[in-house]
Amino acid sequence: MEYRELAERYGTPLYIYDFDRIGENYRRLKGAFKARKSLIAYAVKANSNLSLLKFLGELGSGADCVSIGEVRRALLAGIPHYKVIFSGVGKRDDEIAEAIERDILYINIESEGEFERVQDIAEELGRAMRIGVRVNPNIDPKTHPYISTGLSENKFGVDIEEAKKIYMRAKRSRWVEPVAIHFHIGSQLTELEPIREASALVADLVRQLQGIEIEIKFFDVGGGLGIRYRDEEPIEPYDYAQAILSTLRGTDMTIVCEPGRFLVGNAGVFLTQVLYEKRTPKKRFIIVDGAMNDLLRPSLYNAYHEVEVVGRGGEESLADVVGPVCESGDFLAKDRLLPPTEHGDLLVVKSAGAYGFVMSSNYNSRPRPAEVALQGGEDRLIRERESFEYMIEKEVRFL
Ligand code: LLP
Repeated sequence: MEYRELAERYGTPLYIYDFDRIGENYRRLKGAFKARKSLIAYAVKANSNLSLLKFLGELGSGADCVSIGEVRRALLAGIPHYKVIFSGVGKRDDEIAEAIERDILYINIESEGEFERVQDIAEELGRAMRIGVRVNPNIDPKTHPYISTGLSENKFGVDIEEAKKIYMRAKRSRWVEPVAIHFHIGSQLTELEPIREASALVADLVRQLQGIEIEIKFFDVGGGLGIRYRDEEPIEPYDYAQAILSTLRGTDMTIVCEPGRFLVGNAGVFLTQVLYEKRTPKKRFIIVDGAMNDLLRPSLYNAYHEVEVVGRGGEESLADVVGPVCESGDFLAKDRLLPPTEHGDLLVVKSAGAYGFVMSSNYNSRPRPAEVALQGGEDRLIRERESFEYMIEKEVRFL
């Protein structure tokens, strides 16, 4: 399907996801772990569209969720409760209670305080709950500081000693059953060594726990596999799996992996339309109808997304691609060599399938874009463009 036709059919700005490619990514990663039992628990935070979750669920994927909202989405999309995991550093009581009632696979615990809450709530409900403990291995993943999570200065998880303490307490408890161990050192990882190191450290802890008769069934390695946005050399799934598996000799656990970006990142684009070109003595600006409220990554992380003008040639010159939002930080790309454009030209922002729509907002009272899926040569709407009425619905009755 041509971008032009999609823009005419669904309007711009628009998110477009190639489900066939997501399926291929899923099968590649699943295949890499074939030497062991494994569960790919898609990190819902990367893109939580219900149709996408349903598609992944049909392939056999589970879901890694960080709020009860995500748990509800996963279940609603048909992902079975025994493949749903609830992680995150700050779970509310009502979220814990609902996760227990819905009998999900396990809750990943990130502090002793949280362990106590889960135990008390499980007891109140009279239902024992399975848990994992998120270990912070204090390893530098060598990625952007905002998305690095496995250093002791980060808010995530507990250190090895603290983890042991929680496992011992869990062992003695009637209401909490320790079944998993979890770590996640960061996102957009492109180096294997920190992953291997973290895995080895956590595997050691598993062996120590075995020694005191705590049998861990799920080795949850988090997500974080990086993708190519520009010139990164992503880790091959096979090498990734081997690095982890090589640390697990003498154990018999199901590998749980929580990829987000790897599955959906490169499979999505953000399509936007040129409104104006504007030149100042210093700069050339291409002003488009998509903005930081739709795709925040460039503004927030200075992230690079490749940009292409659809069907245009001509002499390229440097330009910034910017949106209509009233912030200088509102840009989609900076200093790119791009051909001359005209009102109505289409621009494709690549690799926008992960942390794109999910991080969008209504800033500047801009309705969020529509989302479209491509599958088997067909296109279909999977989220309607928001309307002005939808945006004001929660306020207007108080006028
Ligand atoms: N598991 C846990 C516990 C996580 O914290 C994350 C991501 C994932 C799995 C999935 O990571 P992935 O496979 O997608 O790298 N908004 C940022 C990324 C934040 C990632 C947060 N945690 C971005 O746009 O780059």
